[in-house]
Amino acid sequence: MKLGLDRREAGVVSVDAVVAGVFERGDKDDALPRSLAKDAEVVPGLLAPAWERREVRGRRKETTILHRPGGKGRLVLLGLGPRSAYTPEVARRAAAEAVRALKGRGARTLGFRLASFVTEDAPADAVVRALADGAVLGAYEFLRYRSSHDAGVEEATVFLGEEHAREEAALRRALDEEDVLLESVVRTREIVNTPADTATPEWLAEEARRIGKEVGVKVTVYDEKKLAEMHCGGILAVGGGSVHPPRLVVLEYGGGARGGRTVAVVGKGITFDSGGISLKPPEAMADMKFDKAGACAVLGIVRAAALLKAPPRVVGVLACAENLPSGSSYRPGDLVRTYNGRTIEVLNTDAEGRVVLSDALGFVVDKFHPDEVIDLATLTGACVIALGDDMGGLIASDDRLASGLLAAAGATGEPLWRLPLTDYHRELVKSDVADVRNHTEMKVAGALTAGAFLETFVGRVPWAHLDIAGPSFTSPSTRKWQPAYQNIGATAFGVRLVTRYLLDSGK
Ligand code: BES
Ligand code: MN
Ligand code: ZN
Repeated sequence: MKLGLDRREAGVVSVDAVVAGVFERGDKDDALPRSLAKDAEVVPGLLAPAWERREVRGRRKETTILHRPGGKGRLVLLGLGPRSAYTPEVARRAAAEAVRALKGRGARTLGFRLASFVTEDAPADAVVRALADGAVLGAYEFLRYRSSHDAGVEEATVFLGEEHAREEAALRRALDEEDVLLESVVRTREIVNTPADTATPEWLAEEARRIGKEVGVKVTVYDEKKLAEMHCGGILAVGGGSVHPPRLVVLEYGGGARGGRTVAVVGKGITFDSGGISLKPPEAMADMKFDKAGACAVLGIVRAAALLKAPPRVVGVLACAENLPSGSSYRPGDLVRTYNGRTIEVLNTDAEGRVVLSDALGFVVDKFHPDEVIDLATLTGACVIALGDDMGGLIASDDRLASGLLAAAGATGEPLWRLPLTDYHRELVKSDVADVRNHTEMKVAGALTAGAFLETFVGRVPWAHLDIAGPSFTSPSTRKWQPAYQNIGATAFGVRLVTRYLLDSGK
């Protein structure tokens, strides 16, 4: 999708579809409001009757398409719901609904009339970003394995009009930044959607190398031999059952601010999670190519941070392995020694994410002395049960880091909910024979005991853990309830959120 910005009025330029927002009308709102006057001109004589017959009510998810008689062009009216409940997130969803409604209908160019989406609670720069997000992500489909598809909108332009023409420079900066972010989101979605027969740990490492070259960041790949020398017993154990050996990948972006802080961003990269010897049932296994979403998000985050020159130095770490049952798999009962010497009692080979992360966290803290560590992992089904599949769970040892991430979550529409971590959860992961156990006999608070496990590998560094098992992908069964900008498959959840955090964290 090509994104653009134009200071003129939407109606005067020839686009295939002029898109405007409409707030929900009251029962007594009979006359066409003045705010729709410019839109009425796009389709002379057509909007007033549709309004009078109450075909346009402004409810959320309501899309009205009116065709310009005797000429090219359409007006697309998007219901935004009550004005009092309106936020940029509503615009993000509505924009995605517009591109989806136009798909396969011959409209290639679209123009948003910015003023119709801006209110006191939704300032123009946030709306410009939201409209760009909705257009790009709503149009996104994973096409690499399809031989044909319907063409859709290819170019989306935000029209400022007289209301916003004076803010052109600032809005252009916002749009250009969002464009880079969205490229990274799409790149991440492509990688996460790639199935495990292709997307092996070696392939993920190669993708990291390609991205590193593209944006000028240093990439180091540790293969299974090197991992053995480094005593990364966790990654080696989890990857031991697959013919595709594990990899630890490190990307280093130097930072845009002199003497800036170092933020480590660590991702779980299980290219396929069968559960291993503690095998999953088939229904639970179907979506497990998505179990690398955390590591792939790290690729998108480092890419965007480097291109946008985020202030802090960023060290991205991908812990990649394939979790399969075989004669060389790790087993329940195994005792594993990790990078920093801490030992793990393996009681369930399906709790593998925390085992690969143990090495990655121990390694990055020891080697890079980061000021903060953020990890992203599709870690527990328990988190999805607790919070649903539209938000991530946040566990943080540091309130400043937590509030920074929650602010970024609010700004990007990638929601997080903070979860507790107490001595009770720490107690539950203690082992009789090792330092920690990867599974508890008490089937309670699964997302939190996973957090308690990870915490022991981070030490005292301010740390935040994002459990993205729910929002990292959309399946056909849940698609209906998801925003229109989350198509079936990978969402790249975390890329916009964590990059926003990094961009703002120097301020
Ligand atoms: N990758 C799964 C978690 C998951 C579940 C991700 C659903 C996405 C959607 C993880 O490795 C796992 O299997 N977790 C187990 C942990 C349990 C064995 C302690 C779980 O959640 O059941
Ligand atoms: Mn698992
Ligand atoms: Zn997993």
